[in-house]
Amino acid sequence: MEKVHFTEEKATMLATLYGRALDSRLERPVLGDRAADEAVKRIDFDFGKIGVNRDAAVSIVLRAKPIDAWSADFLRTHPDAIVLHLGCGMDTRFQRLAPPSTVHWYDVDYPEVVELRRKLYPAADNHTDIGTSVTDFGWLEQVPSDRPALIVAEGLTMYLTPDEGAELVRRLVAKFPSGELICDVFSRRGITLQKLNPVIRKTGATLYWGIDDPRELERHGLTLVSSLDAAHWATPDVLARLRPFTRFQLRVAKHLPMLAKMARIVRYSF
Ligand SMILES: C[S@@+](CC[C@H](N)C(=O)[O-])C[C@H]1O[C@@H](n2cnc3c(N)ncnc32)[C@H](O)[C@@H]1O
Repeated sequence: MEKVHFTEEKATMLATLYGRALDSRLERPVLGDRAADEAVKRIDFDFGKIGVNRDAAVSIVLRAKPIDAWSADFLRTHPDAIVLHLGCGMDTRFQRLAPPSTVHWYDVDYPEVVELRRKLYPAADNHTDIGTSVTDFGWLEQVPSDRPALIVAEGLTMYLTPDEGAELVRRLVAKFPSGELICDVFSRRGITLQKLNPVIRKTGATLYWGIDDPRELERHGLTLVSSLDAAHWATPDVLARLRPFTRFQLRVAKHLPMLAKMARIVRYSF
């Protein structure tokens, strides 16, 4: 068992890991991430206190699923890609997507988080962990710049300040010949209402960057390809796997744009 002492934004990745583990224990899981559950069983931490109940677990896997699908889509057409998985936490997306050996995948998060990943997850020739803040931009020098890039950032943008986020996007766009950025964003209201989120309250994390219109990022060199608000994360086959009450909540959210647009998944090309 690995004992952990994460606080604030670093601790939030225990919540998302636990959400995926809870989903994987269901008879008809949405994501079915067994590796997440195995990791949870090897971490000495009281996951029951992190603020993730059954409903929160559903929203965590509903967000991960389309991000997996869009990422797989990019990798199918770019088998020579570099993947930057920013703010990766303990996510096992590398295992879930199992990219070909011609893809090189970088998981990037703070050093303490990466240290835990190294203890719990197997190494692979086409995989590198980088322990750094994404905003200490020197880490980018470790990554080759002559291949198309898939940049995935799930549950990260909101922890950056608007200035840090904009600078990160500009540097990523400038570094690679072409690529895609797939990430989720909160609206400004989502940032204002952050303390309603039990995980944010329990970890003591603070959210800063709210984006109301995904086209706001186009001024930093991106072109918006798709935007999916939270009420539309579940495809019909995924909806069929959810319990009736969750389906009802999602239906209600579709008719309340302020709620539906509080969290979005966005896909940009550059
Ligand atoms: C909500 S968790 C999401 C983790 C993972 N993407 C997932 O979906 O399970 C937020 C993650 O962002 C990381 N993070 C926040 N700010 C960061 C920064 N400036 N540099 C690197 N990682 C950061 C945290 O350490 C944490 O692992």
